[in-house]
Amino acid sequence: MAARIIDGAAVARDIRAEAAAEVAQLRAEGTVPGLAVVLVGNDPASEVYVRSKTRACHEAGMHSRLVQLPAQSTADELFGTIDGLNADPGIHGMLVQLPLPPHLNPKLFLERVSPAKDVDGFHPMNVGRAFVGDPNGFVPATPEGIMELLRRERIDTHGKHAVIVGRSLIVSKPLASLLMAPGPNATVTLCHRHTADLAQHTRMADILVVAVGKPGLITGDMVKPGAAVFDVGVTRVDDPAAPKGYLIRGDVDFDAVSQVASAITPVPGGVGPMTIAMLLRNTITAARRAHDRTHRRTPAVAR
Ligand code: GUN
Repeated sequence: MAARIIDGAAVARDIRAEAAAEVAQLRAEGTVPGLAVVLVGNDPASEVYVRSKTRACHEAGMHSRLVQLPAQSTADELFGTIDGLNADPGIHGMLVQLPLPPHLNPKLFLERVSPAKDVDGFHPMNVGRAFVGDPNGFVPATPEGIMELLRRERIDTHGKHAVIVGRSLIVSKPLASLLMAPGPNATVTLCHRHTADLAQHTRMADILVVAVGKPGLITGDMVKPGAAVFDVGVTRVDDPAAPKGYLIRGDVDFDAVSQVASAITPVPGGVGPMTIAMLLRNTITAARRAHDRTHRRTPAVAR
């Protein structure tokens, strides 16, 4: 039987509508949530991403600022930009778009972003908070988007076996923490490029998440019948017959796996749209926290 196709674009639209309502509430209280996106250089894929992020902010009634720096910018110039945004009260969330040009070590700059404005959830403080289950930090948008799809699509995780292929800090590691936490209560296996006999693991998955960027890695015979499959891969594959000369392909062989799985996210239109929706939500959370800190009536010493 063919799998149910999880319409991430539709779920993301719902979340963005909810976000717009929260923005309207914050605006009524005197705070306009603001997101700054720092882009260094002219990577075409990054330019597309940041345009989508700033457009989504405007659609939700938020303020957004795109700071574009030349590819040859120095580390000090980028530090200066981040410091300026950290100090700007009109900016509640900030992200430094990755990848950076090769002469700039991303770790240094992700650590420079104030943890209170780190809506990407990449600062070690927020990585640690996510790991210990502290809700006062920020969780990266893609794993949070997958958790939201699981909730809204009513896919049961309790006692289920979730297998994640990939070990990135952006997707797989935080997702493993979220899935195994009290509440979702999944049993998690994390696989990566050195895993022996990958198919042996993926075939045991009730929930299979693939985030490695290898088009078509997961074939039909690697999936347990009835599994829910989440494809995070986004790779441009040349195709002269396609209108743009390329197609976007996921890590999962969609045609074959959709005959085996019970539910599956398409690429594009599955996990991808959720990431921007969750970024908006993180930015609104940052703005709400800043607003409440500013307007708190109880003096700090009395608490
Ligand atoms: N590049 C690709 N995805 C992301 C993301 O989620 N955040 C940042 N900062 N850069 C990216």
